Parts: sequence; structure tokens; C-alpha cells
Amino acid sequence: MLLPRLLTFASILGGAFAVPGNALSKRSTVSEILTDIEDAVTCGACETLLVVLQALAHLGNDDFVDVITDVCILAGVEDDDVCEGAIAREGPILAHDLRNMDVPSHTATLFCTTIFGLCNYPDVTEYTIDFPSSKPANATRPASSGETPIQIVHISDIHVDLFYEEGASYNCTKNICCRPYTAEDAPGNTSYPAGPYGSHYCDAPLALEESMYEAIQDSFPDAAFTIFTGDVVEGAVWLVNETEVTNDLNDAFNKRMPSYLNLVYGVIGNHDAAPVNSFPPAAVDTTISSQWAYDTLSSDWSQWIGSTAASTADDYGSYSVKYPEGNLRIISFNTNFYYKENFWLYEKTMETDPSGQLAWLVDELDAAETAGERVWLLGHMPMGSGDTFHDGSNYFNQIIQRYDATIAAVFYGHTHKDEFEIAYSNYSNPTADSATMMSYIAPALTPTSGNPTYRVYSVDPVTFGVLDYEVYIANMSSSTYQTKPTWEKYYSAKETYGSLLSPPVTDSAAELTPAFWHNVTALFENDDSVFQDYYGRKSRGWDVSSCTDDCKTEEICQLRAAESQYNCVDITPGISFKKAKRSSSSDSSSADKGHSCGESVIGLMFSNFESTVSSLKTAAEAKLGSSFLDTSVNSTAS
Ligand SMILES: *[C@@H]1O[C@H](CO)[C@@H](O)[C@H](O)[C@H]1NC(C)=O
Ligand SMILES: *[C@@H]1O[C@H](CO)[C@@H](O)[C@H](O)[C@H]1NC(C)=O
Ligand SMILES: *[C@@H]1O[C@H](CO)[C@@H](O)[C@H](O)[C@H]1NC(C)=O
Ligand SMILES: *[C@@H]1O[C@H](CO)[C@@H](O)[C@H](O)[C@H]1NC(C)=O
Ligand SMILES: *[C@@H]1O[C@H](CO)[C@@H](O)[C@H](O)[C@H]1NC(C)=O
Ligand SMILES: *[C@@H]1O[C@H](CO)[C@@H](O)[C@H](O)[C@H]1NC(C)=O
Ligand SMILES: *[C@@H]1O[C@H](CO)[C@@H](O)[C@H](O)[C@H]1NC(C)=O
Ligand SMILES: *[C@@H]1O[C@H](CO)[C@@H](O)[C@H](O)[C@H]1NC(C)=O
Repeated sequence: MLLPRLLTFASILGGAFAVPGNALSKRSTVSEILTDIEDAVTCGACETLLVVLQALAHLGNDDFVDVITDVCILAGVEDDDVCEGAIAREGPILAHDLRNMDVPSHTATLFCTTIFGLCNYPDVTEYTIDFPSSKPANATRPASSGETPIQIVHISDIHVDLFYEEGASYNCTKNICCRPYTAEDAPGNTSYPAGPYGSHYCDAPLALEESMYEAIQDSFPDAAFTIFTGDVVEGAVWLVNETEVTNDLNDAFNKRMPSYLNLVYGVIGNHDAAPVNSFPPAAVDTTISSQWAYDTLSSDWSQWIGSTAASTADDYGSYSVKYPEGNLRIISFNTNFYYKENFWLYEKTMETDPSGQLAWLVDELDAAETAGERVWLLGHMPMGSGDTFHDGSNYFNQIIQRYDATIAAVFYGHTHKDEFEIAYSNYSNPTADSATMMSYIAPALTPTSGNPTYRVYSVDPVTFGVLDYEVYIANMSSSTYQTKPTWEKYYSAKETYGSLLSPPVTDSAAELTPAFWHNVTALFENDDSVFQDYYGRKSRGWDVSSCTDDCKTEEICQLRAAESQYNCVDITPGISFKKAKRSSSSDSSSADKGHSCGESVIGLMFSNFESTVSSLKTAAEAKLGSSFLDTSVNSTAS
């Protein structure tokens, strides 16, 4: 089948790359280009590489996937089956991007920033959000009512692996173990048998999920409701498909949660579709769709949010609904439209408002303001994180600033870490006075980044301001953990920090305001032991390292950035793709730069740019013949 492939290849390239005389000086063969850029780990080299990848993408998805899979295998960053499964899933989306991309362009630069870590972030494309009304002069956050607080539970990133097998090896060569991938990994054959309640090297078994719900039910039978900030599905991203994701979502939302929790407000996570991170905005012309995931969530959530909100959730996973027992509106939105790993967003001209979600959010918030309602805004990925596009984050931040008197707080998950983000009216001058909004980021149930956990907020029943929160953990190092996990209180925010502030904040009716949290970050700067304790709690006391110098500066910078361009995340090759292998590297020299679950295998491959470029040459020649290497394309992008 070599001949037809080459013919197709030649005819496509002939069309795409036939350029008149004056551009000829800029053209070189693929082979020359790859040799040129092998030793040049620069932004320009990356854009040039895109031209080659674009030529490959024009051959069609099959050739693209074939070659890139080989590169992945040659690069040796993952097992062969992981390369095959992952590239088969993410490859066609990347090929779609590349076929439509102009090089150079904002999109191309961004691609080289977020996927390859080789360009600096392009400046934010200015865009002013259109508001139906201006901010009322008297818009202020209401004072605490002093009435008896209610409890609201926050769970996140459960990542339940229904294929988890007790006794299977927890020490495998993949990201997620505790499955019999090989005969040696099978129960009875391995010296590393997984216990019934999970392992730090595996996603959560069903038994762990149920154990948490049982603990919540026992300890907080009167909780008003539970918020769940996304990511039901496990992390074996090279295997997940529509059947599994649908089953996972239905199992969590229709079977497990309703057995223990009375009212749950859910959020769509980046893992809650297949392929992982694949959420095409409405304007993208493609046959690959995640509508089935929206259908499933809409139907699963209707038991809690009713049919009207459920029908909105069916559009793209977002909804707005009034909490029936109080003056609170819950708005749950889809952060995947601003997520750098959602490859559908790299459109020829990038949209300012994918699927019109920001305009919808403005309408909902404006109506809430007019109605005098308080709002809790729920999302999956923190909008100030290193995973968030600077552009989308900037537009979103305009909305937060406009409605900061109506939104009581914002709630996220995704990072698996216990942390927070503060929004400021002026990020160049972050002070208690300019702090305008709190984002509460809850850690995960899945044990891959710490002890399993949930949070309980103490909330003013009138203003819905957060008065305190307590974090509960099951300590996996306990000798009885695998018999029956014990869920115990780990710490309370107000108990931990309140008395250390000046003036102290210890009144149970005092809200944990954005100014309070700003003062906590100032305390971190001034009292290193308080900061180190905070840092240890991020992973719930598991695998704790110290964080000093740049690490500490960057950590505090991230806490003070709910808009991502201010978060101090450095762009360096491979930065985005630190392998999610746990255990080993306790890197104390640099902060955890917003590691997320769901990084692309393609990004991981190119974290060693030089050798991967050389592998690309080898793989392209093996799969497509030397004629591909002899093809002439534009050699420089800018
Ligand atoms: C702000 O003023 C408007 C118009 O006078 C009034 O309807 C509204 O209740 C006031 N809001 C607050 C928070 O005081
Ligand atoms: C996994 O197995 C290797 C030997 O094959 C061993 O060196 C390593 O310590 C094990 N890791 C864990 C977490 O048990
Ligand atoms: C255990 O390993 C042996 C030898 O490789 C194999 O024959 C057997 O099927 C394995 N057991 C399981 C449960 O896979
Ligand atoms: C989907 O994944 C499941 C579990 O890995 C597998 O059993 C099934 O065959 C897959 N279905 C399709 C259509 O690939
Ligand atoms: C933001 O703060 C900086 C530093 O204090 C100041 O120079 C600038 O004028 C402020 N911007 C606004 C809009 O207040
Ligand atoms: C924050 O600290 C300042 C002093 O630096 C203090 O005036 C202010 O009251 C504190 N705010 C809160 C909410 O604790
Ligand atoms: C978990 O238990 C181990 C063993 O008892 C103990 O050393 C560790 O401090 C505990 N961790 C936390 C966070 O309580
Ligand atoms: C190659 O470069 C020329 C001149 O800059 C440009 O007009 C042409 O569109 C480029 N071709 C491709 C396929 O990028």
C-alpha cells in the first residue's frame, strides 16, 4: 500500500505547498528543516516544526497518527500501548488544528507555548466584555448575618477506576496501576498487591469512593448540599472511550452519590469525556463530538437541578439553578473552553467566547444581581492556573470584577491540591484592600496526589459567605487503612490561620473574605513555618518536601493570581508535561506549577525536543518513505 499513500501525499502537498518564485528562498526539504531545528530549542524552531507537522497532517489522520505514534514509541516516554491508545485519540484533533493553522499566527505561537513550552505567552488579545448594566454604585459584599451557619460539603476529582482490582500490582510502568495490564501484574503474581481501599499509584477504587460518601453521611447528615467540582473518570486516558465514560458518569451520579448524598451540584471536568479533554466549541466544524457526555450529565443531574437547568446543561455542560432552601444561585460552568489541553480551542482565529459561555454567564449573573441573589460559581479548572489560557482568563476576570458583590465565592478542583486563588482589582498591587474574590480549590479523593479528602464549609445562611472550612482525610499510612479507612478532621482554616493574623480573626461569624486570605499570604511571607505547614497540607501530609526561595515566591504568586497571566508560571520546554509519575521527584527547587491531570502524550513526547525531532525524521521515513523527507515546504515561519 506504499504507492497509493505516496500519491495521495504528493497531490495534497502539491496543492498546499505550491508557492510562486519569490517564496522559494524560504523553502527547504523536510529533512533539511528537521536537521536545522534539532539543535535549536527555540520558539522559531517550534514554529518551523509546526510547518512540518502541518505537512504531515495534510496527509490525513491515519498517516499523522501512524507517524506520531512511532515517534512516541521511539521517544520512550510511555509504554507502546499507551502511545498507541493516546495518539489514536488525541492525534486526529491535533491534525485538525494543524490543517487549519496559519504559521506564524497567534494560534501557532500559543500552540508552541502551551504544548511545547518553547515560546513566551503571546500578549492577551484585548477584548472588552459587554455588560448589560454597569456596576451599581452601592454594590458591596454583604456583612455576615450572624445566624447559625449551615454546612456545605465539597468533593472533587474522585477519578474512580471501576477496573481497579484488589491484588493487582500497584507498581506498574503506567500512570495508573492496580489493573492486571500484564500476567505479571495480575493478582497472585505480583509482589506489589493493591489493597482494597487504594494506592497512591492508582486511581480510586469504588470501595474508597463509597467509604467517603459513608463518612460524609455519618458525620454531616444535616449538610445543606454537596458540590462536586468534576472529574469522575479515571486517568487511563489511552483506554477510555465513550462506553466507559458514560458508564462511569452514570455509576457516580446515578448510583453512588444518590445513595448517600441528598443534593449534589456537579461540574463537568476535563476527564468527563472521551477522548480526554475533547470539548469542541459549537463553532468548530468536526464530526468528533462530546454531545453524548453532555446528554449523560444532563440526564444524571436532572434529579438535583430539575429539567429546566438540565436542558441548559445539555448545551455544553453548564447550568444555573436556584438553591430551593435559600437566597442562593448555583452557577456551574465548563472550564474546558479555556483549558490549554482542549486542542479544539486552537482555531485558525481563536474565539474570544467559545460556545458563547461567557455571554451566558454575564446574563445569569446580571439577572442574579437584579434579583438580589447571592451566587456560588462552580468550575473544574481554577481560572488563574497555569493550565488556563491567558486570554480566556482575562475575559473571565472582567466578569468576576464586575459581579464581585454578587458572587459569594468561586469553587474549583482539578489540581488535586489543597489551595486557593485570590482575585484583585489591580494585580500589580495585590493588597488586602484590592482583594476582590476568593476561589476555593478543593483537593482530590483520588490518592495519586495525597491522602483522600473532602471539605466541609461553614456558611452564612443569609449571605452564603464562607465562614470557615474543615478538611477531612483518610490517612493511607495508618495500619488499619486497608481494613477500613478512618476519616478524621485534618485542619480548619480559621483555627489554623485566624489567631495568627493581626488583628486576629476568630469570631465564628466572621467571613473568610478575600482580604482575610490576602493577609494569610502575607503571613506566609513573614512566618516561614506557617508557610511550610501550608505547603505540607497541599498534599494532605503525603510526600511532603520543603519549598523555599523561588519555589516559595512562585507559590505565593500563584495564590495571588486568579487571572492566569499573573501567576508567575515559567514557560520552559517540557514544563507542561512533567510526567505524572508520583513517588520519586520531590523537587524542592521549583514550585509545583499547576500540574494537572490530563496532560497530552504529544506534549510529553516533545519535552525532549532535540531527540524527538530526530525520532520524527526516523518515524516519517519508516512510515512514509524518504520522499516525505525530500518534500519541500516553507522552512521558516517568521
Ligand atoms: C442599591 O441601590 C438600589 C437602588 O437604590 C437598590 O434597589 C438596591 O437594593 C441597593 N443594593 C444594595 C446592596 O444596597
Ligand atoms: C517497584 O518495583 C521496583 C523493582 O521492580 C522497586 O525498586 C520499587 O521500589 C518499587 N516501587 C514501589 C513504590 O514499591
Ligand atoms: C501469572 O503468571 C503466569 C506466568 O506468566 C501465567 O501463566 C498466569 O496466567 C498468570 N496469572 C494470572 C492470574 O494472570
Ligand atoms: C471501550 O472500553 C471498554 C473498557 O476498556 C472495552 O471493553 C470496550 O471494548 C471498548 N469499546 C469500544 C467500542 O472500543
Ligand atoms: C495598579 O497598581 C500599580 C502599582 O501600585 C499602580 O502603578 C497603578 O496605577 C494601579 N492601577 C490602577 C488602575 O489603579
Ligand atoms: C488585613 O491586614 C490588615 C493589616 O495589614 C488589617 O488592617 C486588616 O484588618 C486585615 N483584614 C482582615 C480581613 O483580616
Ligand atoms: C498518617 O499516619 C502516619 C502513620 O501513623 C503518620 O506518621 C502521619 O503523620 C499521618 N499523616 C497525617 C497527615 O496525619
Ligand atoms: C509559505 O510562505 C509563503 C511566503 O511567506 C506564504 O505565502 C505561504 O502561504 C506559505 N505556505 C504555507 C503552506 O504555509
